[in-house]
Amino acid sequence: MKQISVGIAGLGTVAQGVLELLAANRDLIRQRSGVEVNVVRVASRRAKPEVDLLGADFSTNVMDLLSDQRVDVVVELIGGERLAKELIVGATAAGKAVVTANKAVIALHGNDLSQQHLRYEAAVAGAIPIIQALQKGLVGNRFSGLSGIINGTCNYMLSAMEDEGVGFDDILQRAQALGYAEADPTFDVDGIDAAHKLTILMALAFGTGFEFPKVYIEGIRAITPVDIGYAAELGYRIKHLGILRNTAVGIEARVHPALVLQSELVANVNGVLNAVQVVSDAAGKPLFSGPGAGGAATASAVVADIVAWAEGAATSATTTSAVPVLSIEQVSSSYYLRIPSRNEPGVFAEVAQILSSYDISIDAVIQKDGHEQGDLVDIVLLTQEILEARMNQAATELQALASVTGEVMRIRVAPQD
Ligand SMILES: NC(=O)c1ccc[n+]([C@@H]2O[C@H](COP(=O)([O-])OP(=O)(O)OC[C@H]3O[C@@H](n4cnc5c(N)ncnc54)[C@H](OP(=O)(O)O)[C@@H]3O)[C@@H](O)[C@H]2O)c1
Repeated sequence: MKQISVGIAGLGTVAQGVLELLAANRDLIRQRSGVEVNVVRVASRRAKPEVDLLGADFSTNVMDLLSDQRVDVVVELIGGERLAKELIVGATAAGKAVVTANKAVIALHGNDLSQQHLRYEAAVAGAIPIIQALQKGLVGNRFSGLSGIINGTCNYMLSAMEDEGVGFDDILQRAQALGYAEADPTFDVDGIDAAHKLTILMALAFGTGFEFPKVYIEGIRAITPVDIGYAAELGYRIKHLGILRNTAVGIEARVHPALVLQSELVANVNGVLNAVQVVSDAAGKPLFSGPGAGGAATASAVVADIVAWAEGAATSATTTSAVPVLSIEQVSSSYYLRIPSRNEPGVFAEVAQILSSYDISIDAVIQKDGHEQGDLVDIVLLTQEILEARMNQAATELQALASVTGEVMRIRVAPQD
């Protein structure tokens, strides 16, 4: 039986989940893994007498975990950046292993942290063991891409907008009331949280190091029920995706709303669930789906990392690749375009002429009476793949047409690798 002594920093949602999971399943974990997990100290801003600390000592200063000689593994669950990073650096300097659920610290500071001392399964997609899958289960594969729903708040909101035909602001209020969105929802709805996770997945799948500033980020604020409806008519759902692709010219790393064919597995992952689909040479396209957040679900990944430390296994995202990460202008996509126009003869011909002048081919068209007045029309198009830089030029010309009455809406179509 291996004994591992743990010090937990934080006593919030995830930390309480870890304590509860260890209390409920300690015997099972011992039998299954041969590892006895002992929590010897919990350190958090304030005591919570109602929480069972499993016999651990309590401190209000998280740095006490570093001087506690019994602690083999520091489990960082305070969140935030500065103190969390300080704690991780201090722990590794003291020769302790670290488990963290903190995606921001890993995505933004991963290159400065000792990878030999770190594990962070819970930082990406909550309960889904995607890091284990990339590093162990799929270790024999070369990855050409990965895409997924890695923010449950966005997925909940887009699913509800589709089901009920309601707008962003109403659904955001509900998501906040249900605890699916923070009071300040920026990190989730503007795509930053997903970009943190994609940065980590890119480092692990492609050996790029942690290159958060190179990830293109777009959130879901501009998505309307009208676009969700048109996408459905064309056979698609709108999902907020993190996308990685290893192309001949470099790596695409992007977070944005995307049209996904209704028949794709990812299109059918709804509500707060997450899903990650890996595109690999031998295993094909395995899809991993499950809860991306929540105390118990996230604790499941934290406990797996603690047990893995008994074998001394770091996550170890070594930088092995010098392949450049592409800017969004260098990425090719098919596009959904919604062009609000006057309902006059010749308007579609003008639109088609501009697209053709940029070699943009049209795959599908629907033309509907606009939603504001009878003399307006929405021209809705799906294009073939075109370089983003070219689409930007075409979109500027489309927007300048006298017959175009509102903002041209553009949503990329998810790649079909
Ligand atoms: N919640 C999820 O579903 C989820 C999922 C995946 C990853 N994560 C990540 O897991 C980490 C923890 O998330 P959480 O939801 O458990 O957060 P939380 O509920 O806000 O808990 C944070 C805990 O840390 C304590 N704390 C914060 N700053 C501190 C400081 N300066 N000194 C001492 N204690 C401090 C807080 O004290 P108080 O109790 O006094 O506030 C609280 O107990 C974050 O990095 C988050 O991104 C969370």
